[in-house]
Amino acid sequence: MNFLEARIVRDGVVKPGNVLKVDSFLNHQMDIALMEEIGREFKRRFADKPVTKVLTIEASGIGIACFVAREFGVPMVFAKKSKSINIEGEMYVAEVESFTHKNRNQVIVSRKFLDADDHLLIIDDFLANGCALQGLISIAESAGATVEGLGIVIEKGFQIGGRVIRNLGYQLESLAIVDAMDAETGTITFREQPQWD
Ligand code: G4P
Repeated sequence: MNFLEARIVRDGVVKPGNVLKVDSFLNHQMDIALMEEIGREFKRRFADKPVTKVLTIEASGIGIACFVAREFGVPMVFAKKSKSINIEGEMYVAEVESFTHKNRNQVIVSRKFLDADDHLLIIDDFLANGCALQGLISIAESAGATVEGLGIVIEKGFQIGGRVIRNLGYQLESLAIVDAMDAETGTITFREQPQWD
């Protein structure tokens, strides 16, 4: 078990409906030492990539993406969720549908901050159905930027997102992949992955 998996077992809470609460250390209260380790691990996994910017989506991706960007010594850009539509021209726009929240959001990034010279590492906290990542990939495509890879802290391996993104041919690195979880017993089953700590 890597240190992230161990932390998930210790402090994660499995809720009915296949929801994993990790708000005590990842996406509400954040353990900064853990964020630093996560940043270092993504740097190690994408060390050979000529990353110019880290791209994420608000809200929970931002904190993690900061630590990754710090490791690469590049800026972090986050897509904003927006209801406003009066932005075409100045903004790259993508539609993101949330299966969990059953709603659609437009996500936007200013054209000032991404262009065809950029090589992007896309980072997020969770990967479930992959809609957020597909929205970010679409924004990268609109900018003509190169997606060098995608890094996820926790992938829910029993939802389709991971397969969809890997089938598109991208290098997708998930630090922990949950293949099953049981709300009654609290059991979490991780996919076997190469050791990294
Ligand atoms: P997708 O982006 O992979 O398609 O995910 P989906 O629509 O299913 O999930 C919607 C939101 O719920 C996303 O955050 C996602 O990160 C989060 N999520 C999905 N499964 C879990 C889970 O088991 N536990 C937790 N804690 N979160 C989960 P969001 O609402 O779009 O963003 P944010 O503002 O919370 O960052």
